[in-house]
Amino acid sequence: MTLRAVKGMNDILPDEIGRWHALEAALRRSFELAGYREIRTPVVEPAELFVRSIGEATEIVEKQMFILKREEETLALRPEGTAGVARAYVASSLHGREAVSRFYYIGPMFRAERPQRGRYRQFWQAGVEIYGDPGPGCDAELIDMLVRLLEGLGVKNLRVLVNSLGGAATRARFREALGSYLRPYADKLSEHARKRLDDNPLRILDSKNPEDQAAVAAAPSILELLDADERTHFEGLTRALTALGTPFEVSPGLVRGLDYYTRTLFEIQTTGGEIGTQNALLGGGRYDGMIKELGGPEVPAIGFALGLERVLLALPAEPVAAPARVFVAPLGERAGIEALLVARDLRAAGIPTDADTRGGSLKSLLRRADGTGARLCLVLGDTELERGIVMLKDLKARTQIEVPRAELVARAEALLATEPGSPSA
Ligand code: HAM
Repeated sequence: MTLRAVKGMNDILPDEIGRWHALEAALRRSFELAGYREIRTPVVEPAELFVRSIGEATEIVEKQMFILKREEETLALRPEGTAGVARAYVASSLHGREAVSRFYYIGPMFRAERPQRGRYRQFWQAGVEIYGDPGPGCDAELIDMLVRLLEGLGVKNLRVLVNSLGGAATRARFREALGSYLRPYADKLSEHARKRLDDNPLRILDSKNPEDQAAVAAAPSILELLDADERTHFEGLTRALTALGTPFEVSPGLVRGLDYYTRTLFEIQTTGGEIGTQNALLGGGRYDGMIKELGGPEVPAIGFALGLERVLLALPAEPVAAPARVFVAPLGERAGIEALLVARDLRAAGIPTDADTRGGSLKSLLRRADGTGARLCLVLGDTELERGIVMLKDLKARTQIEVPRAELVARAEALLATEPGSPSA
């Protein structure tokens, strides 16, 4: 029986990897220019970490965690990156060393969701977390960087949604108000929403169910319940975004599926339809209570994460050109060893090289060379070895020259730097 990959978990094959590398390089460049440093945390954490930070009454914690039981421990594959980075921040006492910390990460996350286009059980996120800056300027700078980043990558039809959830007290008041508003509609709500009515009515706001959406359409807005300080913060954010020329819409219904958010909340979607119904490319927000909750001091925090698969789906599928390769084709056993030495010299000079030591006729070796898409093929036989040369074939320009062994690397480099077929090639 052929074994299949786990449902919702995908192989990324070498043909596709060029696009991933290009996206990852663009993300790293953009993060590092803005002062973020990479952090790598484990893929497995104590399940308790996610229960405490993401919240017990959330889909992720209730239904989507991959749990591993080992001896006395209950572990979970990380469903997101924020909790692990916050745990590491507290554990390493970084708050004592620097006033503001800026981290970024790129890695796989795991959620047992129903797979569909743009939604997987193993997916890749890139995200950042900032600790120590409470102000709305920090939030605006982050959102602005993300809009420029997505535009720079070529993602079209962006929609930037922002909201404020206030602090714990405001959210408690809102939960009350929303619960009282929705209770009379209880029999019109989905079963899932009815269950949430008492423990977490905010989750009903982002329900995809049409009946739930109809019920919440005229629900009270959390923005009306913000206290003076929270309102000033939110106004500071929208003012800064306007001044930066960052497009945004205020969306009072935006809540997102994690319970740790306070104040600023945002999401960037693409409305082009490339990623089906999963139109959120990235989401983030402030979570000023988490560091304290995890045993650290009171440190404000904000961050975001984007789904790499979703961004790749939203981008035109242009193949990324692979670097020109050299194929070394030895004829006979003696030449086989020389081929390995030649390949070693070429690679040391930074030239991607394949050495084919499977043997065979010149014709079959040239066919294999063509199959790899190589630009140059080096042919080495007994005659060439005795004369201290190699035969250098340009497979694209269809020319060939004899090159002394000692000059080989320099000549190959020079040829690779030219367009195939140009006079100097
Ligand atoms: P999130 O909204 O759960 O937030 O996920 C962020 C992004 O990850 C989504 O916008 C989406 O692009 C991608 N994503 C989520 N689930 C899936 C899935 N099943 N398949 C494919 N892509 C997916 C967070 O995870 C927060 N940790 C973001 C954050 C960082 N907030 C503060 N700091």
